[in-house]
Amino acid sequence: MARNARGDLMIDIERQQQHTGIVHRLFQVLSYLVVFMAGILLGLLSSSGSFNQHFMSRAELFLSADHAGPRGVAPVGGCTIVEAEDCMSMGRFLSPKKVTHTMSDEELLWRGSMVPRKKEYPYKRVPKVAFLFLTRGPLPLLPLWERFFHGQRKDLYNIYIHAPPRYQLNVSRDSMFFGREIPSQDVEWGTVRLTDAERRLLSNALLDHSNERFVLLSESCIPVYNFPTVYEYLTSSDHSFVNIYDDPSGDGRGRYSPHMQPRITLEQWRKGSQWFEMDRDLAARIVGDTEYYDLFRKYCKPACYPDEHYIPTYLHIFHGPKSANRSLTYVDWSHGGPHPARFEAEMVTEKFVRSIRDNGTLCSYNSGVTSLCYLFARKFAPNALEPLLNLSFTLMEF
Ligand SMILES: *[C@@H]1O[C@H](CO)[C@@H](O)[C@H](O)[C@H]1NC(C)=O
Ligand SMILES: *[C@@H]1O[C@H](CO)[C@@H](O)[C@H](O)[C@H]1NC(C)=O
Ligand SMILES: *[C@@H]1O[C@H](CO)[C@@H](O)[C@H](O)[C@H]1NC(C)=O
Ligand SMILES: *[C@@H]1O[C@H](CO)[C@@H](O)[C@H](O)[C@H]1NC(C)=O
Repeated sequence: MARNARGDLMIDIERQQQHTGIVHRLFQVLSYLVVFMAGILLGLLSSSGSFNQHFMSRAELFLSADHAGPRGVAPVGGCTIVEAEDCMSMGRFLSPKKVTHTMSDEELLWRGSMVPRKKEYPYKRVPKVAFLFLTRGPLPLLPLWERFFHGQRKDLYNIYIHAPPRYQLNVSRDSMFFGREIPSQDVEWGTVRLTDAERRLLSNALLDHSNERFVLLSESCIPVYNFPTVYEYLTSSDHSFVNIYDDPSGDGRGRYSPHMQPRITLEQWRKGSQWFEMDRDLAARIVGDTEYYDLFRKYCKPACYPDEHYIPTYLHIFHGPKSANRSLTYVDWSHGGPHPARFEAEMVTEKFVRSIRDNGTLCSYNSGVTSLCYLFARKFAPNALEPLLNLSFTLMEF
């Protein structure tokens, strides 16, 4: 059977080969003819109105998917100018949809420092909290943060991530962390490049005029209260939360440079934790400052660390009464040394997290006191994720 079938096939091929030349030429002539006839037919038909209308409506249907907006679209410098809604629209100005841009740091800081003289807003402004993640790469505790934000109103917060340049954060498209990486630059820990990154994050977030509170976080930070509690605590506060103190030792005053006189005296020199939380007014002042920041750029080099001195000193000199003088981010320095304790999975127990949330101490809040001293905590190892997820619902209520 197989052999017969194969033989038939061979004969077919031979026949085909014999006739190929003729058939090919015939086919060519025929196809030219068909195209020619079709051309004439189309020309005749298109001159009649009904066909034209039919054809146009079809075309529009087909195109409408790609051209939902008005006509005349012309991209200019990363902004799309359209007739109906141009770059001057309030929506785009008040709340940029994307966090990417092509601005230099100089341009970005300038824009970030802009403050309207008019105190009344021409729209209903709902204050947002900007969560600024300064990371060295992956976000191992991402699932915990996703749980924290899950189901919350999107008009109450924004996420900004400063990851190393060219680093691709691996998050799914439906995550609130997707597409939130700002244009970044290399960060050298302990140098002014670190505070540059903090100011870059602040400026980016200031571009959204609804951002009212700005909290700096790292990949090892966790929230210890749920979103509604954090939101209420921050947006109702009269103060900015920056840890500020005068350390007379070599690690404090010892890092001061007399070159900073007369603008900054030794008596004004302060130290504090890098992990700040501040309001919009202070954020705009920080990114708008050149005079004092330049002194740190020039005279605060290792073993002086701008991230531990610039904001505390600046705040102490100019806005002392606006500062709560404490950080909202729990960290354990109790064992001494240059680095705080790192919490591994086995240390993450209910008792431990409960003690961070409330250890019986009272903290000042506005004109009163509160038992809520910390909203965030660090430093948690990647393996702490599972026990934390275990506690998130029962203890932290998210
Ligand atoms: C990205 O994340 C997904 C899901 O967690 C994982 O399957 C995938 O391997 C990751 N890709 C990279 C490049 O890390
Ligand atoms: C924080 O310290 C400053 C002095 O730098 C002081 O003026 C201010 O009242 C303090 N804030 C609070 C809440 O105690
Ligand atoms: C509670 O936390 C505060 C602030 O970190 C600390 O000063 C105090 O010693 C802690 N108290 C206890 C009982 O752990
Ligand atoms: C998480 O909780 C479950 C159930 O309570 C428990 O069996 C499991 O050991 C916990 N895992 C961790 C890492 O704590």
